[in-house]
Formats: sequence, C-alpha cells, structure tokens
Amino acid sequence: MHATTSLPILWWLALGFLGESHGVATSLGNNVTLRDNTTEANCIGVKAISPDCNSHETPYHRDFFYVGGHYEDSDLGNLTYDQIYVEKLTPVGGVKQSKPVIFFHGGGTSGVTWLNTPDNRKGFASFFIEHGYLVYILDQTSVGRGSEENLDDFTLRIGSTAEISEAGFTVPELSDEYPQSQNHTQWPGSGQKGDPIFDAFENAFIPLTSNKTAQQLSMRKSGCEMLRLIGSSFLVSHSIGSVNPILLSNDCPDYVAGSINLDPDIVPFEDFTGTGMTMSSERPWGFADVSLSYDPPISNYTELNLTKIGTDTAGNRSCILQSGSTIRTLPNIASVPFVALTGEASPHITYDHCVIAYLQQVGGSPDWIKLGDLGITGNGHFAHLELNNLEIAAVVHDWIQERLKLE
Ligand SMILES: *[C@@H]1O[C@H](CO)[C@@H](O)[C@H](O)[C@H]1NC(C)=O
Ligand SMILES: *[C@@H]1O[C@H](CO)[C@@H](O)[C@H](O)[C@H]1NC(C)=O
Ligand SMILES: *[C@@H]1O[C@H](CO)[C@@H](O)[C@H](O)[C@H]1NC(C)=O
Ligand SMILES: *[C@@H]1O[C@H](CO)[C@@H](O)[C@H](O)[C@H]1NC(C)=O
Ligand SMILES: *[C@@H]1O[C@H](CO)[C@@H](O)[C@H](O)[C@H]1NC(C)=O
Ligand SMILES: *[C@@H]1O[C@H](CO)[C@@H](O)[C@H](O)[C@H]1NC(C)=O
Ligand SMILES: *[C@@H]1O[C@H](CO)[C@@H](O)[C@H](O)[C@H]1NC(C)=O
Ligand SMILES: *[C@@H]1O[C@H](CO)[C@@H](O)[C@H](O)[C@H]1NC(C)=O
Repeated sequence: MHATTSLPILWWLALGFLGESHGVATSLGNNVTLRDNTTEANCIGVKAISPDCNSHETPYHRDFFYVGGHYEDSDLGNLTYDQIYVEKLTPVGGVKQSKPVIFFHGGGTSGVTWLNTPDNRKGFASFFIEHGYLVYILDQTSVGRGSEENLDDFTLRIGSTAEISEAGFTVPELSDEYPQSQNHTQWPGSGQKGDPIFDAFENAFIPLTSNKTAQQLSMRKSGCEMLRLIGSSFLVSHSIGSVNPILLSNDCPDYVAGSINLDPDIVPFEDFTGTGMTMSSERPWGFADVSLSYDPPISNYTELNLTKIGTDTAGNRSCILQSGSTIRTLPNIASVPFVALTGEASPHITYDHCVIAYLQQVGGSPDWIKLGDLGITGNGHFAHLELNNLEIAAVVHDWIQERLKLE
C-alpha cells in the first residue's frame, strides 16, 4: 500500500540508519549468493518484510497454547467458547528471571502490539527476552486469534479509525484538546494518514467486541486458569487491557506478583470516549463492568455511594469516588502491587490520577510513575511503540526488580 513513500531524512538520522553499507552472504548448498542490502532505505518499515532484510528482533523459542476453552452445545454442534490465545517466548540463552511477564494488549489491537513497532524497531517483547524473562503474549478472549464462536453475545465494534488514532494517539497535538498534548514528540514519523509508519500502525487495528460484560466474563473464566498453569507472574497491560489484571487480581491475587499498567483505561465509573476527552458513564463496579469483591460485600453496584471530586478542567479531570460513612474496599485488588505509567503528553495524564485515587480509597498502595517526572518526555497513549519505547521498558523492568527484592 505505501511501499514507495520515502521517510523524512531527519527520521533516518534519528534512528542511525545512514552510513552503513554491507552485503549479506547467503549460502545455498555449494553456491554462494551475495544478497545486496546496501540500500538501507529498502529495509525501513514494511519494506523490511523483504527476504533481503535482516530482522532486528531478539531470538527466542516460540510455543503457542489455547487456554480455558469450554464446549457449549448449539444447533450446529459443540462450539468452543472463551479460550485465550497465549504465545510463550523463551529466551534462546535461557530464562534468567524468577518470574515471567504476561502481556495484555489494549482495545482495537492484539498481542502484536508487544512485538516489533510499526517502524520496525524492537518492541517490549524483545526487551524482556533480552533481559532473561520468559515472555507470554495474549490475544485476549474474543480478539484476534482468540476470536469467539459465540456470535450472539460478542457483537463487534470497530477497532479505530485513522481520525481517532491521529487525534487520540499519534498527533494529539494537532487537535489540541488538552494542554499537555502540545508536548507530544515521540511518535515516529508524521503520525498522519499516508505516512508509512502511521499506515502500518493503523493496519494493526482489528474489531473488538462491544459487549464489555461478555468480554470481561470470558477473560475472568479463562484468565485464572492460565495463571494457575503459568504460576505467579507480572502482568503488563496497556489501555483498556488493564481491566484484565484487575479481574485476575480480584479472582486469583496469589498468582499476580505485580500489575503494571501503561496508560490504564480503568478510570473509575466513567470513560473518556471519542478522542479521549468526552466523559460518559462506564465501569459501574468501579474498575470493571462486571462484579468485583467489595468489603463489606454488595450484590448490586447501585449500593455504592458515589460522588464527584475535584474541578474538571481540560488539563486535569474530576474523578468519581465513594462517599458517605461506609467506604467499601476491594481487598483482593488492593493486595496486589500496582503501578500505572502515564505518558507526559497522553490524554491519560489528565485523568490517570483518578485510577490512583480510587485504588487508594479501596485500600491499595499503588505507585504512579508519570514518565515526564523521570525525564522521559513527549509520550502519547501508545508509548510502548514510540521512539523512546525501550527507555519505558527499562522503567518497567526496574519496577519488577524492586518488587522481586521485596518478596
Ligand atoms: C548452483 O548454481 C548452479 C548455476 O546457477 C545450478 O545449476 C545448481 O543447481 C546450483 N546448485 C545448488 C546446490 O543450488
Ligand atoms: C546488512 O547486512 C549486514 C551484514 O550482514 C548487517 O550487519 C546489516 O544489519 C544489514 N542491514 C539491514 C538493514 O538489514
Ligand atoms: C454436544 O455434546 C454433548 C455432550 O457430549 C452431546 O450430548 C450433544 O449431543 C452434542 N451436541 C450436538 C449438536 O451434537
Ligand atoms: C511541556 O513541557 C515543558 C518542558 O518540559 C514544561 O515546562 C511544560 O509544563 C509542559 N507543558 C504542559 C502543558 O505539560
Ligand atoms: C452481552 O453478553 C452477556 C454475557 O454473555 C449476555 O448476557 C448479553 O445478552 C450480551 N448483550 C448483548 C447486547 O449482546
Ligand atoms: C441492580 O440495580 C438496578 C437498579 O435498581 C437494577 O436495574 C438491576 O437489575 C440490578 N441488578 C442486579 C444484578 O440485581
Ligand atoms: C487534579 O485533580 C485532582 C482531583 O481530581 C487533584 O487531587 C490534583 O491535585 C489535581 N492535579 C493537578 C496537577 O492540578
Ligand atoms: C452517601 O453520601 C452522602 C454524601 O457524603 C451522604 O450524605 C449520605 O448519607 C451517604 N449515603 C449512604 C447510604 O451512606
């Protein structure tokens, strides 16, 4: 589709692609063929699909599994529902970390979000494999290779449009809906439709279910079974995928060594829709659309007494928290070490404080890493794909290492 568009020269320089000139000698039996890879531009972005281009990825052994499926009788026969697609990537040099990391993708995308980036640099999976972790990558139930055969309940919605992606993810600075957007600098390329990197990013969007109840119940059904098979692990999630570590922390907290959430879309009781800035009611149980184990217990979310806190401005949104004489806690969720990482120029910098405030209110001691405070600046919502993505992976690695020291 965009094979002939060339990239701005400055971007080349930024990634250090200039100045190399090599040939690759490939042995074919007794014949030796010299493959010419001297034209470096031919290996940029989607062009790296060519057999003439070397991979930049870290070597691993790959196995895949489907976990948690069960039969449901139907007129057509017995169908399998609710299975999670799980890829297990084992470092070639052996596992050197005591606990695995399990990656949960966000909405509209799939496990590929943790692999190489749209401009074909190393993604999070490579970083963690290089650091000796056993890496698991999911396509959650109902998404991608975990698609649901339950066509009635799992109604579909679109993953994204180019316009949503531009305004919400790749060039929020142009629509300028919140002041911090003006500091967004880390997206590779122009971030707009027609740019080959943007187009590669947009190509990765796929439909997801509009039935959040069905989606969350199915992950809840299969997720703890997956953790029982793998054992205690660090769960790394992005965006709307952060509901999954919440559900698993609620249902089987002993298997969650830590919950690490990049721009988590679990804003209590509300959602910022469209490009991210218009509020609507959502997640009636606080962090989820399905029931969570409150103490004192409730059988209906309507028993929660809620109130709005703070002044709502474009740069710092108000939050919904519990009020009244009885503040109910979420003991299981609160027992799991939690960190949110928020991009300096992401829409989330305006409302992730609500996630932290509610976790504190329900009994947790969450960490909140505002990447800008560490000097990691200019990130939008897909920080794990942006130019400084491996610096952010290093922050996650450091947080995990700190947790392991406390165990
Ligand atoms: C080597 O190349 C020659 C000439 O192209 C060809 O005839 C022969 O089959 C090749 N041998 C192998 C092992 O590929
Ligand atoms: C070209 O080949 C050389 C030698 O094998 C290799 O070091 C270099 O990374 C290759 N460049 C690309 C872009 O694949
Ligand atoms: C589905 O499996 C059940 C249990 O094995 C069986 O009783 C039922 O007849 C099967 N359904 C169909 C449509 O074949
Ligand atoms: C943008 O970044 C500059 C430099 O780090 C900082 O001083 C400023 O407060 C930031 N602006 C916003 C709206 O976050
Ligand atoms: C959503 O899924 C739930 C649980 O599977 C089901 O009970 C409900 O009917 C579904 N709603 C829609 C609108 O499909
Ligand atoms: C919860 O309460 C609401 C409002 O009273 C009601 O509409 C709903 O059916 C209740 N849900 C359950 C599961 O009881
Ligand atoms: C943002 O609002 C919250 C209340 O919703 C408040 O606690 C916090 O201090 C505010 N942050 C800034 C940077 O103004
Ligand atoms: C709910 O909260 C309001 C405001 O704090 C308080 O006046 C009211 O008594 C609370 N209701 C219950 C049932 O706790």
